[in-house]
Amino acid sequence: MFLMFVFLSFCFTSLNGVFGDEVKSVSVTEGDSVTLHTHITELLSAHLILWKTQGSLIARINREANKSSIYDEDFDGRFRDRLQVNNQTGDLTITNITTQHTGLYEIIITSKLTLSHTFNVIVYACLPLSDISRDSSQCSSCVLLCSVLNVRDVSLSWYKENSLLSNISVSDLNIRLSLPLEVEYQDTNTYSCVVNNPLTNQTQHLNINDVCQPCSDFFCCCYGLEAVIQLVISTLVGVATVTVLVYDIYSNSGGDAQKKRSKTP
Ligand SMILES: *[C@@H]1O[C@H](CO)[C@@H](O)[C@H](O)[C@H]1NC(C)=O
Ligand SMILES: *[C@@H]1O[C@H](CO)[C@@H](O)[C@H](O)[C@H]1NC(C)=O
Ligand SMILES: *[C@@H]1O[C@H](CO)[C@@H](O)[C@H](O)[C@H]1NC(C)=O
Ligand SMILES: *[C@@H]1O[C@H](CO)[C@@H](O)[C@H](O)[C@H]1NC(C)=O
Ligand SMILES: *[C@@H]1O[C@H](CO)[C@@H](O)[C@H](O)[C@H]1NC(C)=O
Repeated sequence: MFLMFVFLSFCFTSLNGVFGDEVKSVSVTEGDSVTLHTHITELLSAHLILWKTQGSLIARINREANKSSIYDEDFDGRFRDRLQVNNQTGDLTITNITTQHTGLYEIIITSKLTLSHTFNVIVYACLPLSDISRDSSQCSSCVLLCSVLNVRDVSLSWYKENSLLSNISVSDLNIRLSLPLEVEYQDTNTYSCVVNNPLTNQTQHLNINDVCQPCSDFFCCCYGLEAVIQLVISTLVGVATVTVLVYDIYSNSGGDAQKKRSKTP
């Protein structure tokens, strides 16, 4: 018996990131848009603003001429129709972002001086479907297994009411995380399996009575049947062995008798 619950995969929007002197991290969920803000005073007098990623130019703003150019055909077209710049503020917007857009983005501002600042954009994949199944080989208690694929920084936790019971995470991508939970039958606490990444989470609450039926109702009859089949098979094997043995003894003694008979004349 296998109980399976599919969690809905929701993509919650969450965004953070402020401009400063160091590399600023900006986290975003795939499918969302991210705008890299450049709130610095030098922009007001800047005449040229360049945006680069991986050493290649993706946008160029000529502020004096109030003109901008987007170079989105490189990178296998992954930026095609996804880039927008604001001619005045210099902000770069990446729309409908994907995990392929994870990386460093550099803005180079030319006024009297040339300044540059770097953003580290981290794109989190939507939390994937996760499921809970019951370990049907366990009968004395109910053992549930919650599992999910690690897309990026995914962790899996079991909660009893609001307290954390156990959690797990791995660094390797596309590895399936599995976390068991053992409960007694008739346990009335609320348990939940929580899947999260640094931006979002999804929670599945469990009703133990619904998912943990005592084995006698479902499993023991199966094991009973198996035992009966095993008994019948071993009995048959036993009978067959005895039969072969008896036949063997009988035919051997017959052969001896024939040998003796052929010697005597
Ligand atoms: C820049 O050009 C756009 C149209 O191309 C115009 O609407 C806008 O007012 C201009 N801004 C400045 C500051 O010249
Ligand atoms: C920015 O420049 C582009 C092309 O140079 C122009 O088409 C666009 O209208 C400008 N946008 C604004 C908000 O000034
Ligand atoms: C967002 O990008 C995906 C592919 O990465 C595409 O399938 C989808 O249609 C795009 N959505 C919008 C609203 O542009
Ligand atoms: C488990 O949860 C604790 C407390 O929230 C956290 O400090 C720890 O990093 C987590 N471990 C894993 C493997 O997710
Ligand atoms: C899940 O996310 C919600 C809202 O973002 C937050 O209030 C809640 O504490 C999170 N739960 C866990 C277990 O991380």
